Amino acid sequence: MKYGYFDDQKREYVITRPDTPLPWINYLGCEAYFGIISNTAGGYSFFRDARLRRITRYRYNNAPYDVGGRYIYLRDDSSGEFWSPSWQPTQNKLEEYSCRHGMGYTTISSKYKGIEASTRYFVPLDENVEIWQLNVTNHRPQAAELSVFSIIEFCLWDAQDDSTNFQRNFSIGEVEIEDGVIYHKTEYRERRDHFAFFACSEKIAGYDTQREAFLGPYRGWDNPAAVERGHCSNSVAHGWAPVGSHHVKLSLEPGETRQINFVLGYQENPRDQKFDPPDSQIINKKAAKAVIAKYRVAANVNAAFEKLRLYWNDLLGLCQVDTPDVHTNRMVNIWNAYQCMATFNISRSASFYESGIGRGLGFRDSNQDLLGFVHMVPGRARERILDLAATQLASGGAYHQYQPLTKRGNDDVGSGFNDDPHWLIIGVGAYLKETGDWGILDELVPYDNAPGSETPLYEHLQRSFRYTLERLGPHGLPLIGRADWNDCLNLNCFSDSPGQSFQTTTNKDGKVAESVFIAGLFVLAGSELAEIARHRGLAAEAATYLAEVAKMDATIHKHGWDGEWFLRAYDDFSRKIGSKENVEGKIYIETQGFCTLAGIGLDDGLAAKALESTRKLLATEHGIVLQQPAYSKYYLEYGEISSYPPGYKENAGIFCHNNPWVVIGETRVGNGDAAHDYYTRINPSAREEISDIHRCEPYVYAQMIAGRDAPTFGEAKNSWLTGTAAWNYYAITQWILGIRTSYEGLLIAPVIPKSWRSFKARRKFRGVTYQIEVQRAGDGNKVCLEVNGAPIQGNLVPLPPAGTKIVVVKATLR
Ligand code: GLC
Ligand code: GLC
Repeated sequence: MKYGYFDDQKREYVITRPDTPLPWINYLGCEAYFGIISNTAGGYSFFRDARLRRITRYRYNNAPYDVGGRYIYLRDDSSGEFWSPSWQPTQNKLEEYSCRHGMGYTTISSKYKGIEASTRYFVPLDENVEIWQLNVTNHRPQAAELSVFSIIEFCLWDAQDDSTNFQRNFSIGEVEIEDGVIYHKTEYRERRDHFAFFACSEKIAGYDTQREAFLGPYRGWDNPAAVERGHCSNSVAHGWAPVGSHHVKLSLEPGETRQINFVLGYQENPRDQKFDPPDSQIINKKAAKAVIAKYRVAANVNAAFEKLRLYWNDLLGLCQVDTPDVHTNRMVNIWNAYQCMATFNISRSASFYESGIGRGLGFRDSNQDLLGFVHMVPGRARERILDLAATQLASGGAYHQYQPLTKRGNDDVGSGFNDDPHWLIIGVGAYLKETGDWGILDELVPYDNAPGSETPLYEHLQRSFRYTLERLGPHGLPLIGRADWNDCLNLNCFSDSPGQSFQTTTNKDGKVAESVFIAGLFVLAGSELAEIARHRGLAAEAATYLAEVAKMDATIHKHGWDGEWFLRAYDDFSRKIGSKENVEGKIYIETQGFCTLAGIGLDDGLAAKALESTRKLLATEHGIVLQQPAYSKYYLEYGEISSYPPGYKENAGIFCHNNPWVVIGETRVGNGDAAHDYYTRINPSAREEISDIHRCEPYVYAQMIAGRDAPTFGEAKNSWLTGTAAWNYYAITQWILGIRTSYEGLLIAPVIPKSWRSFKARRKFRGVTYQIEVQRAGDGNKVCLEVNGAPIQGNLVPLPPAGTKIVVVKATLR
C-alpha cells in the first residue's frame, strides 16, 4: 500500500493523504539555518546547532505525534468555522490534500469548503530565514471573508534547558513587537547576542505572543481560542511561553488568489551594537529589518526560490545515471544524493527520531558521510575534514562527537571508540580521490583545538594509524575500547545498574577484548594511507604501512576466521564472538561485509565463503540482518547489543548502514547480480509498495528495518540520519555502476547485473564532464575502454589535459 507517489520530473515525493504511518519529513536549509518539516507542517527550526540554537519548539514523542510546527489556521469569518490547511493540528476532513517534499522545500496544499490553500516552505540560500509562501484561492461562487492566523512557539534557545528547567524558564521569556513584526529576545538582555523574528508581508489585524493568550486556558493547538473567536488579543509575553502569531484578514472574490508571505528568521548582532538606542534594552533591529523588507516583496521570494531550484539542479547534475532500473535511477539521481546532503549537514543530530539534544556531529559518522557528499560541494567537505581533525586527540584517538556551533569535541556520548581514528583516513582519502587537492595534507591543524598543537593534517593521519598499532590485544588484533563501529558492542562495560549509559560507563581497563572489525578497517585505512604516502613521495613510509597491513591481514586469517565466516570479536575473557562456538550471535554482518570490501580473503576464497555464509544465514527479503541468532537475553559481557529485544537495532535488526558493505563485497568477488539484489532489498523506492509495512518515508533510507526475529519484521525506523545514505550512494555509484574515483583519476569498473544490457552516466569529476556509456558484450566484468574514440589499456581513464570540458567514455563488458 502507498501513501503517495514519486514525481521524478519535479524531483518531488507527493504524499496524497495526511495520515501517513509516521510523520514523513523533509529538511529545509542548506548551510546554517535548518529545519525539519513533516507532511502536516510539524517540525522545528534551528541555527547551526539543534541543541544550542533552537529557534522553535517541537514536542517529541507526543500524542498525537508531531506536535509543534509551522502552522496556519484559516477561518471562515461568515460561519466561524476554522481549519488547518496542513491537516494538523485541527485534523478537519480536507476535500483535497497533497504534500510535495522537494529539494529543500515542502509544499502543502489542500482544499476545504471551496477554499484552496497552498503553502511552500523553504529557506533561501545564504540567508538565515525561512519563508512560508501561502496562496489562498477562493473557488466558491461567492466572495469569502477569511481570517488567516500564523503560529509558531519559540524555543528559549537551548533545547535541553528549554525542556527541563521550568523554574527559570517560565520567568525569562521576552519579546518586542514593532510594525507587526514579532521579535523573540529571551536572554538577549544578558549574554545572548541573537534573537529571532517573525514577520508577515501583509498588514495585520492583530497578533499574539503569549501562548496562553492565543490558545486559551487548558486548550490545545487543535482549538485555539483566538482562532475560534476570530481575533488575537495583542498579548505581550512576559515569561511563560512566547509564541508568534499574526492575524490577517482576507476578502476574496470568486476565483481570486492572494499571497501572504511569512518570514521567520534568526539574527546575530555584534556585541557592541546589541541595543538601539545603545543605552536602552531595545534590540538593534537594523540588519533584521533589511532582511524582512526584502522578503516582504513577493518577487524577491520567488527569485530566492528560483535560486534554490537552480542550486539543486546543479548539485544533482554532477552525477546522473540512466540504468534499466527505475529505483536505482531515482535514488542516485535525486533522493540518495539529497539525503547525503542532509546527513552531511546534520549528521545524526536532528530528525523525527533524533531530538537534536543528544548528538552533535559524530567523528565516525561525519567522516563516513563524506563518501556520499564530497563530489557535491568539495569546499565544504574540506572545511568539515579540517574541523573534524581539529577535534582529534594528540594520542590519535578522537572525541566521538562535537557541537557544530562551538566546533569543540565532547564526551557526552562516550569516548575511546577505537575505530574512530581510522574514519578520518577514509574521509580524507575520499576527498583526495575526488578533488586531487593534495594541499589539504599540509594544512596545519591542532589537536583537541589546543592552540600551539598544530601539525600538518598528514600527521593526523599518521597518528590515526599508529593509534591502533599501540593498542593491540592478545591475538594481535586491535583492542576494541569503548566499542567499534557497532556502538552497542560494549565488551569492557559490564554494566549491571539500570539506566547506566553503555556509552559512558567503563569498569574494565580494556586490555583484552579485541575487534576483528577494526582489524578490517585498519587494512582498508592502512592501504589508503600507503597510497597517500606514496603520492607524497614517501615510498619507504608507504612500504611500512603496507607491511603492517599485510601483518594484520595475516592475523585476521589466523585469529579472525571461524571456518566459514569472519569472527566478530574476542570478549574480555578472550572468548570468541560471532563464532559457531557461540550459542547466540554466531555470525555478524560487519566483518563479512567490511573484510571483503577491504579486500581480505579475495585470493584465497575466504571472501567468497564469508559472502556465501552471509547469504545463507543473514539475508532476508527485507535486507541483511546484523547477526544471528539474535540475543534472547542480556549478556553482561556484551553490553548494549543484547539489551535490545531480538530483531531490533543492533540486536539482529537490519541495520541498513552495513548492508552496502556486503554489496561492495559482492562486487569485489564479481557478483553483480547479488550486489544489486541486496542494494534493491533496502532501497526505499523499491519498498514504496509496502509502505504500510515499511512505514517510514519511501524516499530516504532509514537506520534500521526490523529483522526477522522482530514481531514487526520489515518495519523501518530512524529514517533520514544514517550512514546508510553515504554508503549506499558510494556502493551503487562507485562499485556497482563502477564509476570510481581514485588517486590517479576516474576508474570505470562496473559490476552490474547480468540482465542489464547497458547503462549511461554523466559524472563531473575534477571539473570535467565524463559522458559514460557501458555496454554488455558478455556475462563478465572485464572492461574494454574507449576514451574519446580511442581504445586504451586497463580501466583508468587518464586525466585529460587542462581545459578539457568533456570526455567521452565507452566501456564494453565481456
Ligand atoms: C549509529 C551511529 C553510528 C554507529 C551505528 C552502529 O548509526 O550513529 O556511529 O556506527 O549506530 O552502532
Ligand atoms: C544507541 C543506539 C545506536 C547509537 C548509539 C550511540 O546505542 O542504539 O544506534 O549509535 O546509541 O548514540
